[in-house]
Amino acid sequence: GNGSTPNADSDRGVASDGALRQEGEFLTTAQGVRLPDTDHSLKAGERGPTLLEDFHLREKITHFDHERIPERVVHARGAAAHGVFESYGTAKKVTKAQFLTKKGQQTQVFVRFSTVLGSRGSADTVRDTRGFAVKFYTDEGTFDLVGNNIPVFFIQDGIKFPDIIHAGKPHPDREIPQAQSAHDTFWDFVSLHTEATHHVMWNMSDRGIPRSYRTMEGFGVHTFRLVNDSGETALVKFHWKPVAGIHSLVWEEAQIAAGVDPDFHRRDLADSIDAGIFPEYELGIQVMPDDGTDSFHGIDLLDPTKIVPEELAPVQLVGKLTLNRNPTNYFAETEQVAFHTGHLVPGIEVTNDPLMQARLFSYLDTQLTRLGGPNFAQLPINRPRCPVNDMFRDGMHQHAVHPGLAPYRPNSIDGDLPRPASAGQGGYVQVPRAIEGPAVRANPASFDDHFSQATMFYRSLTPIEQVHIIEAFTFELGKCYEQAIKERELIVLSKVDTDLCEQVAAGLGLPAPAGEPANDVTTSPALSQVVTEPGPIA
Ligand code: HEM
Repeated sequence: GNGSTPNADSDRGVASDGALRQEGEFLTTAQGVRLPDTDHSLKAGERGPTLLEDFHLREKITHFDHERIPERVVHARGAAAHGVFESYGTAKKVTKAQFLTKKGQQTQVFVRFSTVLGSRGSADTVRDTRGFAVKFYTDEGTFDLVGNNIPVFFIQDGIKFPDIIHAGKPHPDREIPQAQSAHDTFWDFVSLHTEATHHVMWNMSDRGIPRSYRTMEGFGVHTFRLVNDSGETALVKFHWKPVAGIHSLVWEEAQIAAGVDPDFHRRDLADSIDAGIFPEYELGIQVMPDDGTDSFHGIDLLDPTKIVPEELAPVQLVGKLTLNRNPTNYFAETEQVAFHTGHLVPGIEVTNDPLMQARLFSYLDTQLTRLGGPNFAQLPINRPRCPVNDMFRDGMHQHAVHPGLAPYRPNSIDGDLPRPASAGQGGYVQVPRAIEGPAVRANPASFDDHFSQATMFYRSLTPIEQVHIIEAFTFELGKCYEQAIKERELIVLSKVDTDLCEQVAAGLGLPAPAGEPANDVTTSPALSQVVTEPGPIA
């Protein structure tokens, strides 16, 4: 015969969703050999030394010794859930991405929420930015919207990401503080890099301590380019609006929660899904014309430290996300999931935002280390839910048994498949973008405005929210050892708002610097030209 036996099925033990089944009634080794005992090692007599030949002892201990993988370099602490995204069909005018264009179309999703700076075991309710990463398993390939709960970022160019993270992570000597911004390197960095001011304002506000992942907004931050069926393009910003509303903790609540239940947000997410109270968020887009200027009402759309006020471009809702299932296994799903800003589908493209451009390199690169080689797309949580036919082969942890001899094109041995897809066949064909210019290490002049939106943010707060932000600055800066850093940050605050600066200075027991007058937002070009007519897709 051909030598095949009933056991030759290579899919044995693997369920249809890719999960590895634990099956059979007996405890076995990893090789399937039934075990009589897993509690006593094999010894030379009851009181004798352990024998090297105990293959079960060695396998059990060895596997355990290798159970940990490196935690994420940022966003190490997270909690996740499965869910479904349902399209309203309203985005059809601006994008051809099918999961957004067909009304009622449902797409499976996996969402991971996270803090940024703390290690995997840190507390949930610390003051920090939160990650809001969504993996859409669409029929056209996987789309990841890797966002945060704050709509702007600390830096304008991704080349500075290692720097801001080095400043925000625990001090290298004592590895403290674990997960809060109350330390010298953080305040040293942001007072020397005033482009961070707008993000710092959001962090020190109530947005920095969400009540729950269920009551948190999400933002794609960068400006994206959408392309429709006719090849027309628009610039957009993505927003997630929690149906339960936006709620934060006050500082005292956050402190108590961090002590009494460091898993406060993780538990809340899992418990609410278990109880059938499914977290819901509507996806919305702000639509701006792609007129070649990459700016809108004087706001540079390539500058990730800027928002577009909703008065200028209303958020138009395009679908709803519902989280309805907890992960079965934290490690396999929440820990091994790999998001990447470069996971795009036809109809959604990138822009020249220099922060976004660096992210397009970083995620795949870091995952090669974190997940041990180039084959992590084969892990169940990362596997696309549409046909995959690549010509990638071999590598660490290869799970596929690839048939054929010729993973190259053209070839005359295996035949013509797989073949390239045109745009009409669903191929990801970038809109032709004119790119020219001298190679320079420089920012456009528009990136020099570091304060106008920080001022706008502060003045948009209610009086009690202003009290909270003053208290937060006072507490966090009060923890700095270096007086000069506190003084320099007070100069930054003097450029945001005189009253804010004076109150924080008083709280710190320091004189308020004279500084420059704060920008007057009522005369800023952005708000003096408020448009209220509906955008192109309403
Ligand atoms: C991880 C968001 C900027 C590098 C993450 C995660 C989120 C996120 C949500 C967690 C993903 C997960 O849950 O697995 C953002 C946002 C940014 C930003 C919204 C700015 C708007 C950057 C930049 C870089 C970067 C500029 C590098 C140049 C990373 C890395 C990870 C990460 C290396 C770890 C990924 C992993 O190990 O799987 N980011 N990030 N991020 N981000 Fe960012």
